[in-house]
Amino acid sequence: MKPWPYPALIAHRGGGIVAPENTLAAFRLGRSLGFRAAEFDVKLTRDDVAILLHDATLDRTTNASGPVGDLDWSQVRGLDAGGWLGEAFRGEPVATFDAVAEMLRSTGMHANVEIKPVPGRERATGFAVAARASALWEGAAVAPLLSSFSFEALEAAREAAPALPRGLIVSSPQDADFRRMAQVEAVSLHCSRKAADRDLIARAHGAGLRVLIWTVDDPPEAERLLGWGADGIITDNVRQFATRFPGLL
Ligand code: G3P
Ligand code: MG
Repeated sequence: MKPWPYPALIAHRGGGIVAPENTLAAFRLGRSLGFRAAEFDVKLTRDDVAILLHDATLDRTTNASGPVGDLDWSQVRGLDAGGWLGEAFRGEPVATFDAVAEMLRSTGMHANVEIKPVPGRERATGFAVAARASALWEGAAVAPLLSSFSFEALEAAREAAPALPRGLIVSSPQDADFRRMAQVEAVSLHCSRKAADRDLIARAHGAGLRVLIWTVDDPPEAERLLGWGADGIITDNVRQFATRFPGLL
């Protein structure tokens, strides 16, 4: 396996559950706790602006509703993506991929860019996000790690930016997933904690793949997984993990 440049601890959605997910406030929080790596979810607006949002709809994490893929950036940019979590975050906007990349690069943080297309836009999103990532991280010492549940998105990402590392996200890895990872020349398997065990980690390592596990919020479980050789732990429990595992940040 090639050298792995990413820290073992990765803040899920920027700042776990302590700050509004996928916003600049989340990355600020993660960084303030000492995190040097963050995972986040990127998709496209109707007019192909890459933004951070987990869900296909705006309902849960903004003050609007409906499918985000039906709106242009001009309609999304004024939304409140922080108030849902608390008054302290009210007014926090939806983050653009460009703004997050600039913040991460300027603070020396590593990125795990989850390509999370709205339904039906898998290929377009994989291509556009990878191409944009390539431009945004031009000249960087460490490339962003792209990942996706969507094989189609990863295939398109490879076409757009073959040099950027890719990982397949899988809830419960099967033989077919290992074949897919080989097809897209993935460097990593991003596996649910529910399916991660010693055998799976060993199998992935045997196939030349690093293993990142989400979402691990229990410190003893993280210790067990790391003991089995897990290469990355993606956590929502950012405060406790930063205190408990400072050497892994
Ligand atoms: O990238 C790992 C993890 O974030 C995948 O699940 O639903 O939290 O994006 P989700
Ligand atoms: Mg994600």
